[in-house]
Amino acid sequence: MASDIGFSVSCNIRATVAPPIPQAAQWAQKFTPTSSVPLLDMSQGVPGILPPPSFFESLTEVSRCADSVKYGSIAGDLLLRSALVSEMKVVYGKQIDVEADDISLTSGRNMAFLAAIMSLCDPGDEVILPVPWYFNHQMSLTMLGIQPIPLMTSPEDGFVPFVQLCSTLITERTKAIALVTPNNPTGAIYPPSVLASFAQLAKERGIALILDETYRDFITSGPPHNLFDLHAENGSSWRSHIIHLFSFSKSYCIPGHRLGTIIASPTLQQHIRTVLDSMQICAPRPVQLALAPLLPSFRPFIRSTAEALKARHDLFKACLPQPWSIGAQGGYFAFVRHPFQGIGAKEVCKTLAEQWGIVLLPAEFFGSSVSGHGDQWVRFAVANVSDENVQMVCGRLKEHLAATKWNTVG
Ligand SMILES: Cc1ncc(COP(=O)(O)O)c(C=O)c1O
Repeated sequence: MASDIGFSVSCNIRATVAPPIPQAAQWAQKFTPTSSVPLLDMSQGVPGILPPPSFFESLTEVSRCADSVKYGSIAGDLLLRSALVSEMKVVYGKQIDVEADDISLTSGRNMAFLAAIMSLCDPGDEVILPVPWYFNHQMSLTMLGIQPIPLMTSPEDGFVPFVQLCSTLITERTKAIALVTPNNPTGAIYPPSVLASFAQLAKERGIALILDETYRDFITSGPPHNLFDLHAENGSSWRSHIIHLFSFSKSYCIPGHRLGTIIASPTLQQHIRTVLDSMQICAPRPVQLALAPLLPSFRPFIRSTAEALKARHDLFKACLPQPWSIGAQGGYFAFVRHPFQGIGAKEVCKTLAEQWGIVLLPAEFFGSSVSGHGDQWVRFAVANVSDENVQMVCGRLKEHLAATKWNTVG
């Protein structure tokens, strides 16, 4: 393409893949929806519902007060950070050793990842990512000149990574391992024992474990892990090797307000806050002020949303027509094997979006091409849609199976 700029752009940004969601949106635009055949968008991991009315009321109230238009502290408002510590005790147990000083608030979790990486890594360093990976992780690393190192996972293991394999990938340039659980894109929920073994590996090898738990509130089976416990791991503190990331976008249903967290040792927080001061100065004020007094009151809403999502996953599993088959499921996503022989997942997604009005993302968008099984897998964002739409998607997939000339396996 001819350039209309008379200067060169960064080599690192040119080496970074373009945002993939707009590509799926382009496919979707070719579909003409009707009132009886609507577009069914299961592409982006966005909440399908609004936050409780109390949030809007609180936001309206705080937006009238002077504090909401002022800069706040770099770390974020102490009231919200303290409220978050109490909420974390609800999620992980009362015994956890996390304090307000361990927390920085960011303009969303993507900003939190960037700030964590910028405070840890230099260009040329390496960060290990399980494949398939969250595409913004790969993008953030590449644009900073940091090498993402793929840690293969397999459908046979439910896309849960192996710590032994990970240990063979560590070099003198490795700065961190970044895990996402429940995972995007696979939905895999990493068992507490797996997380403990990765934490131990990071500690032994003197690198950081970056743990993204954006979807943790959708685990309904108990605490996600005990890594924050005071005397976990032989009396040592998580602070020596763990950096924890969280987003308010999903369980609190406020992605547009851009609010996330980094939990790390205050020693590292010093550097993280240097990055944050340069990039955002402070996280958005109105949402911090609005949320702080409300945080505990969100818990019943979060629990019932998690239960509803679990039921929707069960419904999806029950309705998905064979030979489509689920590889892993959890949090916002289901990772599903398409049944078409010799047809790439990207072509499957393009056809389904353009001709059948079902918008999905192929595994290729999540780095799966490096793993060799990317062509078979498709991500369904189960959280975006209603139960009724899940049934409609499955019905349309069935109609497509009956109509398509593509050969199916099995
Ligand atoms: C694993 C993961 N982390 C972070 C984010 C983005 O979070 P935020 O909206 O807080 O930037 C997403 C969004 O899809 C995600 O899937």
